[in-house]
Amino acid sequence: MWDKMDLLEYENFEQLKEVCLKCNKCPLRAGAKNVVFGEGNPGAKLMFVGEGPGKQEDEMGRPFVGAAGQLLDKILAAAGINRQDVYIGNVVKCRPPNNRLPRPNEVEACSEYLAAQIKFIKPAIIVCLGALATQTLINPQARITSVRGKWFERNGIKILPTFHPAALLRDPAKKRPVWEDFKSLMKVYREVNIEQLTLGF
Ligand code: URA
Repeated sequence: MWDKMDLLEYENFEQLKEVCLKCNKCPLRAGAKNVVFGEGNPGAKLMFVGEGPGKQEDEMGRPFVGAAGQLLDKILAAAGINRQDVYIGNVVKCRPPNNRLPRPNEVEACSEYLAAQIKFIKPAIIVCLGALATQTLINPQARITSVRGKWFERNGIKILPTFHPAALLRDPAKKRPVWEDFKSLMKVYREVNIEQLTLGF
């Protein structure tokens, strides 16, 4: 994923979005109603990366608007994070049939869009929601149960893996560790914001 960044030649974020919305590089596009590019503040210091659009996301063309998204909204609100201030995207931009896991060739085809999003947004922090984002952005061998809550760094970006909100819906026992991860996130996010303000003077 990170090795793609140097090769990218998009003019700006809008042009990247235009190209992504017209993409036909992998078989997922044929089965999807919409390409879910991602949304939020393109100047965000904090970015969330999920797996791929589900049914509602596919219908609305927006990330994290279904049940998992509503839970994510609740967690963000509890953490005092404004959804409009952050950027929310996914590893793959088209819904896999029946919400199956995206295949390696699909992740590979789509990863240049994620790489380009990260390159333009330049977040200080990325939160990986679930195993696929963690494996794509940190290490293909990573196991979410052992790496969640630990901080990593790639290209100067601090990266925190945590469980996917859909996993919390299936197993509420995961809510507590996720809250611990968000407390750790809030601490680092606050430091990043303070640094920003200070450097702004
Ligand atoms: N699950 C994801 O991984 N992404 C979404 O956008 C919605 C649900």
